[in-house]
Amino acid sequence: MNPIYDLKDEHKIIISHINKLQSYLNNPNFLEEIGETINKFGKIWDSHETKEESFFEWFEKQGGTFPFKKTLLEEHREIRGHWQVIQNFLNSKDKEKLMVALNTDGQMLINKFKAHIGTEERFFDNLFVENLGIFSKYKA
Ligand SMILES: [Fe+2]
Ligand SMILES: [Fe+2]
Repeated sequence: MNPIYDLKDEHKIIISHINKLQSYLNNPNFLEEIGETINKFGKIWDSHETKEESFFEWFEKQGGTFPFKKTLLEEHREIRGHWQVIQNFLNSKDKEKLMVALNTDGQMLINKFKAHIGTEERFFDNLFVENLGIFSKYKA
């Protein structure tokens, strides 16, 4: 299976969670939904990130050129930091601080994640054309 299809499908799911989160952002009535979204989002993101990073490693081992790998990996850590801040306030059950965190870290998470996925998709689309042959050797 071409790993890029898989990763792109997961991006669609991640984006749908992000959009949901965005729609709840200014509304404390949705705290429960926010918690659920953050948790679902966290789960798919964990497995997506692991899959993606091992794909990056594999791709380099095949001799693929990948100048901005470092940036993408740094972005993974950075976005995770925002997610962690929200997660901490969710756990603390402090509604007011959570709403503040959602509007700062939450908004940053949304913006950075969308930009990050945009960069990855452009990269994947280029890879797809340039390296079609090597993907037949990929095993997830
Ligand atoms: Fe990524
Ligand atoms: Fe990704």
